[in-house]
Amino acid sequence: MKGIILAGGAGKRLSPLTRITSKQLLPIYNRPMIYYPLNTLIKAGVKEILIIIAPEKAGEFLNLLGSGKEFGVKFTYEIQDKPGGLPEAFIIGESFLDNDNVAMILGDNIFEEDFSEHIRSFKSGGRVFAVEVADPERSGVVEFDKKMKVLSIEEKPEHPKSNFIIPGLFIYDSRVVQFAKELRPSKRGELEITDLHKRYLEIGELDVKKISGEWIDAGTFDSLLKANQLAKEKLHKGLII
Ligand code: TTP
Repeated sequence: MKGIILAGGAGKRLSPLTRITSKQLLPIYNRPMIYYPLNTLIKAGVKEILIIIAPEKAGEFLNLLGSGKEFGVKFTYEIQDKPGGLPEAFIIGESFLDNDNVAMILGDNIFEEDFSEHIRSFKSGGRVFAVEVADPERSGVVEFDKKMKVLSIEEKPEHPKSNFIIPGLFIYDSRVVQFAKELRPSKRGELEITDLHKRYLEIGELDVKKISGEWIDAGTFDSLLKANQLAKEKLHKGLII
């Protein structure tokens, strides 16, 4: 299993903080934000990690993270020229992936969960996770039955069919590269991760696992503050990097 951390993007919602540095380099309590998703992958046993970054901030990431030797893993870097959407990561990462399975995590997603078992047990298809939230209409919503069979996936629906949303860690088999290439940009001009999930759902190969640990998308001022508090109270104890 290879890993990708997607750490490009514009970070407009955190401006002016993101005018001086990248969102994923902002402090979360005692670490730069990207340490948390990196920690999640490394703790789960992923040893080869591609870090995708925006051109303007590439030097800062290299200075901070280097080769990965310090953390006992290997980092590879690629530039995303402009934010074209999350599935673009698999097109950019094609040669890095070299037909292996992949776990992709978003550089601003902070998880408490230990994904080791979910990664170890993955065989093929696509695997997403489900977190229960109070306001599902703001995210990708997943509906499933008692046997955890996925029934539907909808991006920011007006009337959500469940309270479970898909957080920013996804696992796919090697077909993801081809599937990403076949996607067409949405109305907002980006490739959409929801469309990729729908593709796996269409062929009956998308599975979903509920997670119960805390999860925060640290992309807004309020969620950034919450992430800081969570890191201070709980998460920093589980950091291995
Ligand atoms: P978002 O939070 O959806 O986008 P953003 O970081 O550009 O923020 P804003 O909406 O405030 O402008 O992105 C989620 C994560 O994915 C984040 O770590 C940035 C990363 N990302 C990329 O690296 N490339 C992309 O094309 C997109 C859309 C996101």
